[in-house]
Amino acid sequence: MRMYDLIEKKKLGKELSTEEIYEIINGYTNDEIPDYQISALLMAICFNGMSVRERYDLTMAMRDSGDILDLSSIDGVKIDKHSTGGVGDKVTLVLGPIIASIGVPVAKMSGRGLGHTGGTIDKLEAFPGFNVALSEEEFINQVNKIKIAVTGQSKNLAPADKKLYALRDVTATVDEVSLITGSIMSKKLAAGTDAIVLDVTVGDGAFMKNKDSALELAHSMVDIGKRADKKIAAVLTNMDEPLGFAVGNNLEVIEAINALQGKGPEDLMEVVYALGSQMIVFSGIETDKAKAKALMEKAIEDGSAYNKFIEFIEAQGGDSSFAKDINKFKPAEHIIPVCANEDGYVHALKAESFGLASMSLGGGRETFDDVIDMSVGIVLNKKVGDEIKSGEPICYIHANDLNKAKKAEDMIRNATVIAKDNCGHMQLILDIVE
Ligand code: URA
Repeated sequence: MRMYDLIEKKKLGKELSTEEIYEIINGYTNDEIPDYQISALLMAICFNGMSVRERYDLTMAMRDSGDILDLSSIDGVKIDKHSTGGVGDKVTLVLGPIIASIGVPVAKMSGRGLGHTGGTIDKLEAFPGFNVALSEEEFINQVNKIKIAVTGQSKNLAPADKKLYALRDVTATVDEVSLITGSIMSKKLAAGTDAIVLDVTVGDGAFMKNKDSALELAHSMVDIGKRADKKIAAVLTNMDEPLGFAVGNNLEVIEAINALQGKGPEDLMEVVYALGSQMIVFSGIETDKAKAKALMEKAIEDGSAYNKFIEFIEAQGGDSSFAKDINKFKPAEHIIPVCANEDGYVHALKAESFGLASMSLGGGRETFDDVIDMSVGIVLNKKVGDEIKSGEPICYIHANDLNKAKKAEDMIRNATVIAKDNCGHMQLILDIVE
């Protein structure tokens, strides 16, 4: 069929066949179909959606557009964890070493930050020498040896997604559930693990701004994962305010190191335990989530999680002395408090604006080519639900440029709501889809 006819078919709300979907994805990946026709098709999908069968075919065609990792030579149930993105999200840095220390193989491909959300690969580069580009052999050997490896996404993993995502980004077609499902799940399936635990963030700083849309996405991804014979679950987590206290690369790494030493913020640890207990159950090491959580708590208490983190940093060539002495991380030149102008309770610390404020300090990227300043960011002094007095700091800005700090302060003030009534703390784990 001509591409014109396939666009017409989707425009009329009809289902595309498996062959047609493969033809489209292969044709686009090989530069045989122009952007303008795929743009029209993407918009038709935005209006008419895709059936579960179409979504599955889309995901598999995108997965098959490039390399598929073969992790069969790693012993045990290999597990990946993926977050749909957040502000202050340092979960992988804490969760990975904890569950690896319990014996769960963590074979993880991570990305860089873009826009208001951060990326694990950037944070790992806080350790001088850390290699974020392992070969497939190095990746597999390391997981076999120490149970954990984290690497950047290989260039030829789901190349169809790279092209499609860039096009979706400029054609207002990012926020459609079938397309997001295909994009995320094609990469997860190409990464070759046996089990996948998804952290689907919900709220101001997340892709999905409300629970209904996040649940729809969670069900869609879990459906596709099951059809592909994977063990899969999605945990819906609140991203209305930043996770933990720190936003910004080095600051988040320091918070993660503290968490591995038993000094983690409550909300961060709640997410880590929710995702980790699911991963441990998938691994078969424990069948009961409460017992799995207890194993994780013990791994922190007895130092094995922290020791695993050091081993992991060293295995990838990183300088672990930074993890042993966090004062080695270069601080920003200025640390500026942003203080409350009234008494009351903190009702909102809008996560997206905090992420954008950190980005405006130099801590994030607008485009993939931007270089980030690792030392800048924001450290919260209060969380939503906390009481605050006039003159008390809401947060501290870590900046290397006072003009940028002023701009960040304005953004933070606009993103902070203080009111008289006690609103209580936010519910963090909103749902689990299995
Ligand atoms: N993250 C992805 O990788 N793809 C999407 O489409 C949305 C979020």
